[in-house]
Amino acid sequence: MASSKKVEKYYDDMTPGYLDTYGETIQGCRIKDKSADSLNDFLMKSSGLIDGMTILDAGCGVCGPSIYFAKNLDLQIEALTVSGLQVKIANERVISENLTEKIKITKGDYSYLDKYYSPDKFDQVLFLESLGHAENSSKVIESAYNVIKPGGYIYIKDYFPLESYTGSQKKRLKRVIKNLNSSFCYNTLDLNNCLTALRKTGFQITFIKKLDFQIDFEVSYTFEEKFKIDVWDGKEHFKVAEWLEIKCQKI
Ligand SMILES: C[S@@+](CC[C@H](N)C(=O)[O-])C[C@H]1O[C@@H](n2cnc3c(N)ncnc32)[C@H](O)[C@@H]1O
Repeated sequence: MASSKKVEKYYDDMTPGYLDTYGETIQGCRIKDKSADSLNDFLMKSSGLIDGMTILDAGCGVCGPSIYFAKNLDLQIEALTVSGLQVKIANERVISENLTEKIKITKGDYSYLDKYYSPDKFDQVLFLESLGHAENSSKVIESAYNVIKPGGYIYIKDYFPLESYTGSQKKRLKRVIKNLNSSFCYNTLDLNNCLTALRKTGFQITFIKKLDFQIDFEVSYTFEEKFKIDVWDGKEHFKVAEWLEIKCQKI
């Protein structure tokens, strides 16, 4: 199981490789034939970010998405990553984009958000392909709840394994998820557990939906090839998960 210490080391070691392949938006699920900016534009609109909000980018990478959001909206952004190297690179990027008034970056663990932020601070907390790294995602969801204002939102973009396979396909799915977890320091989320944790914590579901674009994994496959990561348990890729957006409101 990936702990936050392991995730920290993973991103301290691998961020240069991610930057070479993925660029500054470190997300595997991208829009076919479109730039990372188009993906960030989609996420900004779909998550409902608007001028005047104070938001937390929980698991911010090197701030590719946050920089895009800050350039396009009047936002106050707190950005958090467990990787010291990512904090350093993100700070350099934010300074060079002249966005220090809008984005503040902190090194820390999203399981303990109340250590870094006051209660009821944020209009929205975003987890953009980051919640799946959590050792205990229920704890992270509770931690987010405490720093979100009443009426504010949590927004999660991540992948959730399919449940329809049976027999040998089901076994293969389990092996692939296990490989993904160990190769990418992930703790792939279970949709039912995640929804239960959100609702038990006190969130109400605003929407759960399939990402409404043609998904392209070319960047991920290039990365896997470059670093000789073999997760597919066979020659062909097969569909193991659905990519979803989940948005919930703190009541
Ligand atoms: C796949 S990257 C996504 C980065 C960013 N959201 C983006 O779209 O470019 C996952 C991010 O989650 C962060 N992360 C993972 N576990 C974390 C934890 N326990 N606390 C804070 N950040 C964490 C990693 O440091 C990394 O920045």
